[in-house]
Amino acid sequence: MADVILGVQWGDEGKGKIVDSLAKNYDFVVRFQGGHNAGHTLVIDNVKYALHLIPSGILYPQCKNIIGNGVVIDFQALDSEMQQFERLFSTTQNFHSTTGTLSSNSCLIDRLFISNRAHIILPYHVALDRFIENNRAKTKGLEAIGTTGKGIGPSYSDKVSRNGIQVGDIFDEEILHTKLQANLVNLAHLPLAFDIDSMLSEMRGFAKRFAPFVADTTQILWESTRNNKRILLEGAQGSMLDIDHGTYPFVTSSHTGIAGALSGTGLNAHDIDSVIGVMKAYCTRVGNGIFPTELHDEAGRFLQQKGMEFGTTTGRPRRCGWLDLVAIKHAIRFNGCTKLAIMKIDVLDTLHEVKVCVGYEYEGEVIDYMPYNLNVKPIYKSFSGWNGSARVREFSKLHANAKRYIEFIEEYTGSKVWLISTSPEREDIIEIP
Ligand code: IMP
Repeated sequence: MADVILGVQWGDEGKGKIVDSLAKNYDFVVRFQGGHNAGHTLVIDNVKYALHLIPSGILYPQCKNIIGNGVVIDFQALDSEMQQFERLFSTTQNFHSTTGTLSSNSCLIDRLFISNRAHIILPYHVALDRFIENNRAKTKGLEAIGTTGKGIGPSYSDKVSRNGIQVGDIFDEEILHTKLQANLVNLAHLPLAFDIDSMLSEMRGFAKRFAPFVADTTQILWESTRNNKRILLEGAQGSMLDIDHGTYPFVTSSHTGIAGALSGTGLNAHDIDSVIGVMKAYCTRVGNGIFPTELHDEAGRFLQQKGMEFGTTTGRPRRCGWLDLVAIKHAIRFNGCTKLAIMKIDVLDTLHEVKVCVGYEYEGEVIDYMPYNLNVKPIYKSFSGWNGSARVREFSKLHANAKRYIEFIEEYTGSKVWLISTSPEREDIIEIP
């Protein structure tokens, strides 16, 4: 059976810490959508490791890691990410002794699998991403999305319009050449120039580098479910950035929710056991787009500084605001979350007052759902603040006001709070059985 971890806000909820702390219990950890627009940092022995594409199970020797068919891959980015772990593991005796002898030149072989059906991000996708963004920014009445500029949207566009290049294509140079040439013809009307020969030669190198990792990952997952293996599906971005159910068009270009977990792996609904929704105790978003509970005052600056709200992938400061329970309920509903993990409760420590949004004022009415047009005014419920939640590991030891806050989240959403994170450290988690 598989468990799914999803963000239920606009991304950056802290899924990385939860996946990292749960991965040891799983045989497989799988990324199913997005690309290197995602990211989180792990610190081991004071050295930072950035994860963008490689699933978080890579640090557990027993865990196999899959980049599923729903992901879009920038080979250059994947190569450098793999190198940091190849360097780490080749110098870690302990790791080798637990994984056994690996005869190949990469110690990640048999630990990392890349779907032959995943799509590739090519230089023209990156150029198009920037071109489209600039164009939107210059167009009266529109605004740039504020993408990560990594070519994610254009690569998914090619996939959907059936012009995409899949990982499996890089092993047949003739096919690759034909497809690339046709795609460049489609771009010929734009003021952008691309060199097909350099792309082909780069892909030749990548074909050699990645051949030992490419596999039919759906078959691997089907076989592992037959053998009762435990699978963890790791979402990237967040539900409110979902292409269908998020704040379109200020979203990413994939299905970040449960639908993506299935279509991006080949598993079906019966394979899913639990769906864990991860949320911060407040709310952040990067990039443009409506954010009803955004704060532009001292409280917003407090959350940004204390929560260290700067993007892992782009370094951009994150916009900060109060918790929006209307949006969370929307995400819980369309994902079928069975339990919640609340992150960064300690960031709220010392605040005199903490607010949560429990409804929207919309066209003169009070509503408790997300309307098509999110031009709404948030309605808040106010809580007295608390102190001392940092590093607490038992629910009973939380301040009464913090407990009240958590209990209200449960009550409002109808979803059980299972985990509460009280610091960035791996072990600082409260589990509520
Ligand atoms: P794209 O995914 O680069 O196309 O960016 C589309 C939107 O999703 C932008 O608002 C990005 O800031 C946002 N986004 C993409 N990846 C992440 C992420 O990992 N965390 C938070 N926001 C993200």
